[in-house]
Amino acid sequence: MFSTLIIAAVALPLALAAPAPYRLPESVFRRQLNDTCGLSTVQQPPSKLTPPGDHNQLVLIALGQGTQNYTCTNETAIPASIGAVANLFNASCAVSQKTSLGSVAEDANAVGQHFFVDNTTPEFDIIGLGNTQLKKAEADPAPNAATDVPWLKLDATNTNTAVRSIYRLNTKGGVAPATCAGQAAGAVVQVDYEAQYWVYACPDAMAARRQKRSLGLPLN
Ligand SMILES: *[C@@H]1O[C@H](CO)[C@@H](O)[C@H](O)[C@H]1NC(C)=O
Ligand SMILES: *[C@@H]1O[C@H](CO)[C@@H](O)[C@H](O)[C@H]1NC(C)=O
Ligand SMILES: *[C@@H]1O[C@H](CO)[C@@H](O)[C@H](O)[C@H]1NC(C)=O
Ligand SMILES: *[C@@H]1O[C@H](CO)[C@@H](O)[C@H](O)[C@H]1NC(C)=O
Repeated sequence: MFSTLIIAAVALPLALAAPAPYRLPESVFRRQLNDTCGLSTVQQPPSKLTPPGDHNQLVLIALGQGTQNYTCTNETAIPASIGAVANLFNASCAVSQKTSLGSVAEDANAVGQHFFVDNTTPEFDIIGLGNTQLKKAEADPAPNAATDVPWLKLDATNTNTAVRSIYRLNTKGGVAPATCAGQAAGAVVQVDYEAQYWVYACPDAMAARRQKRSLGLPLN
């Protein structure tokens, strides 16, 4: 289901188009704590990443599909990461009900978007879970590191968000070409990738968020 790597060079501008903020329907928000898919018993595939803290709960496994973006300053440079853009699909049930944690079906429901606010700050906007900015805390090479981007532990930068950590696991694709040979100066190189994003939230933070919403206070 993952197509062959497509590497396309596109011209500037570099500006990231942030998607419009999602509306967060209360009914969707409440469903997050209803463990329909049995996420409470799902185990991450083994890695060297530090496990999530006990106080955090797995609330979503999202399939991300998009591109890792790199830029080339000149033909002799090495491609430098400038982030990623991906659509997120709800794969919670698909993954939890499989014995093998491979890729999931593409007919899952869209639940949000992943993009970067600057070269090192990923953001995830997820229906019902709000908009969360994170920082890379740990990385572990993927089993097939030559083609697949590393597995990551990302931690939220803001203590007010319900989402505390997101793990990027079971990656496919996304690795930059080894060199910038043949690229125009300033070119952006886009490499297709897929990943599972395992989203952990603090139930207390989610309750606080719900209360803020009911009082009409700003969320995050
Ligand atoms: C990265 O690639 C996506 C396509 O997946 C594109 O929409 C986006 O504008 C690119 N970002 C940058 C900074 O080039
Ligand atoms: C994902 O799908 C499951 C099963 O339909 C549902 O219970 C859960 O609320 C969904 N999560 C999100 C973030 O939409
Ligand atoms: C949780 O989800 C199940 C399955 O969708 C549903 O039957 C049940 O009513 C839900 N419980 C709550 C408290 O929303
Ligand atoms: C090419 O870009 C790299 C990285 O920015 C830089 O170190 C190098 O000096 C540049 N080479 C030339 C010929 O401009």
